[in-house]
Amino acid sequence: METVVSGIRSTGNLHLGNYFGAIRNFIKMQHEHRCFFFIADLHALTTHPKSDQFKQSVRNVLVEYLAAGIDPKACTIYIQSDVPEISELYLLMNMVAYVGELERCTSFKEKIRKHPDNINAGLLTYPVLMAADIIIHKASKVPVGKDQEQHLEMARNFANRFNHLYGKEVFPEPYAYNFGEALVKVPGLDGSGKMGKSEGEGNAVFLNDSPEVIRKKVMKAVTDSGPSAPNQEKPEAIRNLFNLMELVSSKDTIEHFETQWDQCSIRYGDLKKQLAEDMVTFCAPLREKIAEIGANESYLNAVIEEGAAKARASARKTLDEVRAVIGFAR
Ligand code: TYM
Repeated sequence: METVVSGIRSTGNLHLGNYFGAIRNFIKMQHEHRCFFFIADLHALTTHPKSDQFKQSVRNVLVEYLAAGIDPKACTIYIQSDVPEISELYLLMNMVAYVGELERCTSFKEKIRKHPDNINAGLLTYPVLMAADIIIHKASKVPVGKDQEQHLEMARNFANRFNHLYGKEVFPEPYAYNFGEALVKVPGLDGSGKMGKSEGEGNAVFLNDSPEVIRKKVMKAVTDSGPSAPNQEKPEAIRNLFNLMELVSSKDTIEHFETQWDQCSIRYGDLKKQLAEDMVTFCAPLREKIAEIGANESYLNAVIEEGAAKARASARKTLDEVRAVIGFAR
């Protein structure tokens, strides 16, 4: 049995990118491995230091995790800030992370471009906190989407460097994991490469979106004037729509539109209508469960408390070992 850790920032509701990139991947592992899934509220502070909805966002993500099928009886679900051992390990791991490598990290460069008025040190050391999240439970498998690959490489470097510095194999090497398949990148609806909560309005379809909202977003998706010759290669925006269909539509549906594309008879309006309906069908049961679980305050409180206790017990064990290896007196 291996240890698995993964998390999602609490900066907004969950979208299909989170679901197909990460959550579907976690759910498959929860019954076979020692799994920890958490809500990264400390990471959220790097870009959202002050928010009236902070507590609500954390709760929303928790509810959506549970609605999507993460089972607190099979694994440990917790809120990152409930486990202060992670923050201590983060401080200790900062000593083996080099400023140069942190500055070269793609997500850091992207974040400072998007948030030029708040280039805080937390953004720079974001990958160190992420490494601490993972190695605090000595995890080796990390189910994530493609966009987290570089962070995982950094986590391995920090873990190995620590082991080497103190001459002890405290941490195993953590790897991004997707059942031997390539990591997933779910595209957005705006023609851009990636579905994301901080991308523009209409880019992402959220698990809790109503059928009307989903239809509206999908009908507005970026397309072009259509193929001009048979069997053409698809431009990016169109490929994105087909890639989204791969996630929610039947094989027959995809084949139908592929054939129409190849024969230049495709009507994007029809394709989008079908894609929207397939997304509605996919999200509807999740949306129902979100409403049901979200109304059960006492259950949510119990999940949070139990998760915090289990996560802290595991984290404490690793941190005690780390402190001993470094040579702290107690
Ligand atoms: P976050 O909150 O941006 O995304 C959560 C998870 O969803 C995946 N994801 C996607 N996958 C495919 N296509 C997309 N369009 C897409 N958008 C999001 C992400 O890859 C991720 O797996 N730094 C992390 C949170 C984190 C974490 C960790 C993850 C903090 N500590 C430790 C794993 C282990 C993040 O910002 O994810």
